[in-house]
Amino acid sequence: MEKIVNFCLIGTGRAGMIHGRNFAKKIANARLTALCDPSPENLQAAQDELQAEHTYQDYREVMANPEIDAVIIVTPTIYHREIALAAAAAKKHIFCEKPLAMNEAECQEMIDAAEENQVKLQVGFMRRFDESFIEAKKVIESGEIGDVVLVKSLTHGPSKPKPWMFDISKSNGPIGEVNSHDLDTLRWLTGREIASIYAVGGNYRSPEAKEDFPDFYDTVAMTVTFDDGKIGMVDGAQYVQYGYDARVEILGTKGSILIGDQSKHKLVVAHPDGQISRPAMHSWTYLFREAYVAEEQAFVDSILNDTETECTGFDGLMAVKNVNMGLKSLQENRIVKAEELA
Ligand SMILES: NC(=O)c1ccc[n+]([C@@H]2O[C@H](COP(=O)([O-])OP(=O)(O)OC[C@H]3O[C@@H](n4cnc5c(N)ncnc54)[C@H](O)[C@@H]3O)[C@@H](O)[C@H]2O)c1
Repeated sequence: MEKIVNFCLIGTGRAGMIHGRNFAKKIANARLTALCDPSPENLQAAQDELQAEHTYQDYREVMANPEIDAVIIVTPTIYHREIALAAAAAKKHIFCEKPLAMNEAECQEMIDAAEENQVKLQVGFMRRFDESFIEAKKVIESGEIGDVVLVKSLTHGPSKPKPWMFDISKSNGPIGEVNSHDLDTLRWLTGREIASIYAVGGNYRSPEAKEDFPDFYDTVAMTVTFDDGKIGMVDGAQYVQYGYDARVEILGTKGSILIGDQSKHKLVVAHPDGQISRPAMHSWTYLFREAYVAEEQAFVDSILNDTETECTGFDGLMAVKNVNMGLKSLQENRIVKAEELA
């Protein structure tokens, strides 16, 4: 009989519903069996749409259900660790959204728990599953653009930060919430580790949050050096309002690669008033819609084939380490080296 992996979605907010919809309909050999969220409104809205067999408000009840083989953790980052540890102890495979946790120690606990209990752990860096990113990596590896000397990656998000994101002790701010993707992209495309980061930033769009959250920043720029002396640049911003913007430029000794642009479609409209227009990309949910499906399918396949996940706990840990290096640099206004966090 065909093996089916039964999933529980834990956290039915913005990103959770992307996974929920995909696991309900698009992923082979997977079933969305249960939903879990302490918010009755979010849980009910998710259940109205997804019609799962079980609903829970407390993740501990999920762990007690032997029908559930795997969990998708899409709660605010601060809860990832405790839920992942409970899932591992209950022998449930773990797909955990990025950033994996708040700090490296938490990530290491999650990795160790998954190993000890022999369950899979995959981190949600879906850009690694995007066709353009995959193609760029192939071109780099072919040697066509020579040696990579500079990788620039940016992510700008349109929406106002969620209330929990203003408290950077709970979210790490945009370096964690937004730029963990870019920091992962830098590692993944170059195959190198980040040796140092210098970050500058500020809160330019949410003045009302300044009094309660003086550390909050909504825009950041980071200069990075790799362990082979090559260079990286990352910039991030939340609440830019104009759309969702995720682009990468890779400069080699003999050529360069661009990934992404700001438009939603490959479409330009010429208007009778002499203006031309292109609709802007509006959301990460749209830009990376196929990449989410690909990462989810890869996770199910790694469970069924008992292979290593394509984006491992270690990748999650290194991204979190780099997030914390960036944050420390921003807060202390100095270059921070990797060995300081080791
Ligand atoms: N891969 C991506 O591109 C991507 C995009 C957005 C968010 N994320 C990540 O997904 C996670 C969630 O972000 P979001 O934007 O969906 O947040 P959100 O605030 O929209 O949703 C979080 C949900 O988790 C629920 N929740 C809170 N505590 C819980 C608990 N203990 N157990 C179960 N559910 C709980 C909340 O009620 C809410 O419904 C974060 O880690 C974020 O970084 C990843």
